Amino acid sequence: MQRREWLTAGMGVAGASLLAGQMARAGPAGAAQGRKLPPLRIFDVQTFVTAPAGIRLVVVKVLTNEAGLYGLGCATFTQRARVVETAIDKYLKPFLIGKDPLQVEDIYQSSWVSSYWRNGPVLNNALSGVDMALWDIVGKRAGLPVYQLLGGKCRDGVDTYFHASGKDFATVEKAVRAAMDKGWRHVRAQVTVPGLATYGTGGATGGIEGDPKVPPNRRAQVWEPGPYVRIVPRLFEHLRKQLGDRVELLHDVHERVPPILAMQLARDLEPFRLFFLEDPFSPEDVGYFKHLRKLTSTPIAMGELFNNPNEWLDLIAGRLIDFIRVHLSQIGGLTQARKLAALCEFFGVRSAWHGPGDVSPVGHAVNVHLDLAIPNFGIQEGRIFTQAEQDVFPGCPALRNGYYHASDRPGFGIDIDEKLARKFPISDDPPFDLRWGNVRRRDGTSVRP
Ligand code: CO
Repeated sequence: MQRREWLTAGMGVAGASLLAGQMARAGPAGAAQGRKLPPLRIFDVQTFVTAPAGIRLVVVKVLTNEAGLYGLGCATFTQRARVVETAIDKYLKPFLIGKDPLQVEDIYQSSWVSSYWRNGPVLNNALSGVDMALWDIVGKRAGLPVYQLLGGKCRDGVDTYFHASGKDFATVEKAVRAAMDKGWRHVRAQVTVPGLATYGTGGATGGIEGDPKVPPNRRAQVWEPGPYVRIVPRLFEHLRKQLGDRVELLHDVHERVPPILAMQLARDLEPFRLFFLEDPFSPEDVGYFKHLRKLTSTPIAMGELFNNPNEWLDLIAGRLIDFIRVHLSQIGGLTQARKLAALCEFFGVRSAWHGPGDVSPVGHAVNVHLDLAIPNFGIQEGRIFTQAEQDVFPGCPALRNGYYHASDRPGFGIDIDEKLARKFPISDDPPFDLRWGNVRRRDGTSVRP
């Protein structure tokens, strides 16, 4: 095969002509001086499980037969990190060795059906880690940042929202003000319901609270939906009274309440003009969205638990949500997410990709490249990377004045310090966070987390 044919196969016309232009000038790494290059092949697939910020992250490295050319992707499913690691090492790696890493779409499609049963969170995360790594390789091969492969920048920076929480209204208000002072224009606000284990108001990970005499795997975090749906509108009434309209406010229900209470809440919040209300229903209750739409104009964000296209197709085509909020590595990576973004574009749905601490800095970089390139960008959930995260992942997206900025280096512009990553091993005793699955009503009934 001619050099150009194999080198550009699967890149699409734009990528191929850009690449041809690059090669005609001086040539990116490995493509110089008109030499005939050996075909590019996947040489190895490696999985890193690391926790530099105390949160279990899974990152995939795909190596090629060209010295120094590799890609990174995020496969983080923090609750089941070891299972994803096994899916990559034992199942995807043997399927991929020797294949052409530039055939991103074909590798996505064939890997996706290689298990026959598909669209589950474990296999989707494994697949996503590989998929993002392949996009990183294509970018490095072409000498271009990935946002350029996706059509180029639609904006200068990626507007993010920050998390503010507290034990009472005054503390939340203080946290919102602090975020505004640092430049954020969008803030998610969550308040503790007195006496109850409230989502979004404690630490992101770590130990489990409760009676130390009870083994941690049986310690319940008590939660009642009634007091929660009554206190939240009062929080936003307080915030609007104190802060006026100078900030966009967001809130996450986290699927914790019965659908009818979520509908009451969405309507009660309408006077306070939220930027969005997130996950009012669980994925099992999406049938309620058509009723909610008739009841209130509170903007709705949904989807961080979605895995399967059938979970979002009707919501988007029916114009029942305003923001799509998937965790990119839950749905199959960048290949799937850019199609989802394009689908949303035609229905006026904007993006709000999942981006807390259980998305690795590599995953955040992928979010940011996609955010820059899509016309229907809405908002990006952001966070301040810890020093340890920045050290393990050189090239974390830069956060300035509430905006993320992508690196302009080829690919996603982010790397991993493997030696340092190993200094932050995940605990294997147990290898998961016991708080998930232990939220219960006062009478002991299990609640969605
Ligand atoms: Co959420």
